[in-house]
Amino acid sequence: MKKIYLYGNWKMNMTCGETKDFFAKMSRALEDESISGHLGTELEIAVFPAYTSIASAMAGKGRVIVGAQNVYFEHKGAFTGEVSIPMLSELGCTHVIIGHSERRQIFKESNELLASKLKAVLDAGLTPVFCYGETLEERESGETFNVFREQLTQGLSKLSKDEIERIIFAYEPVWAIGTGKSATSEEAEDACKYSRELISKLSNGAERIVILYGGSVKPDNAKELLSMPDINGALVGGASLKAESFLDIYKAYV
Ligand code: PGA
Repeated sequence: MKKIYLYGNWKMNMTCGETKDFFAKMSRALEDESISGHLGTELEIAVFPAYTSIASAMAGKGRVIVGAQNVYFEHKGAFTGEVSIPMLSELGCTHVIIGHSERRQIFKESNELLASKLKAVLDAGLTPVFCYGETLEERESGETFNVFREQLTQGLSKLSKDEIERIIFAYEPVWAIGTGKSATSEEAEDACKYSRELISKLSNGAERIVILYGGSVKPDNAKELLSMPDINGALVGGASLKAESFLDIYKAYV
């Protein structure tokens, strides 16, 4: 069985108290051997809380990985409102989401800025979860693969082949995020297959590259999506906010 990455992006949700409740439920649910028995070689679970809830998450996380949703590339200095990699490492974060479409669109993060963030995160020995994907307009005008080429080649431009292999990629079509309208498993597979080929040309080979699909993943569409050969897991927003529905995504797959 292939290894599944079940990653939850909480966005601007979940206070410290709600985070504590989530992990209390999660640790009870993980007493169930049918899931915890897979943790490690067959299943990896991570959640990405807001900065302010990371410490609460760390306290209750058990075998779940805790990461951050964003980071700045400079280590310290006059960057009001930003958080640095050493600050995240000190909290115990090993993973950071880079380039989520909400960062690209709402906060205008450019491919160049994202390239600097990826480089800094990898230099510090952390794992970036690098998001890319097209808008509805780009898909409808036949630009999807051009968008991948631009976001991936520019985003990865500062990295060596070995560094590229340490990234966890997340294909997230913008039109499927938070809309309840997931890509079909064929659309998601086509996109992940194409990007795998593209990334493999920039790195040492296709089989070591990990690509997640994100965009309205729920227990009822999880099996089809996660069974696709080029999809290694899911980056889940809405359905990751409750421990039960989050784990049901994996249960639906196995
Ligand atoms: P969604 O969000 O599952 O709520 O669509 C996914 C994401 O933005 O990572």
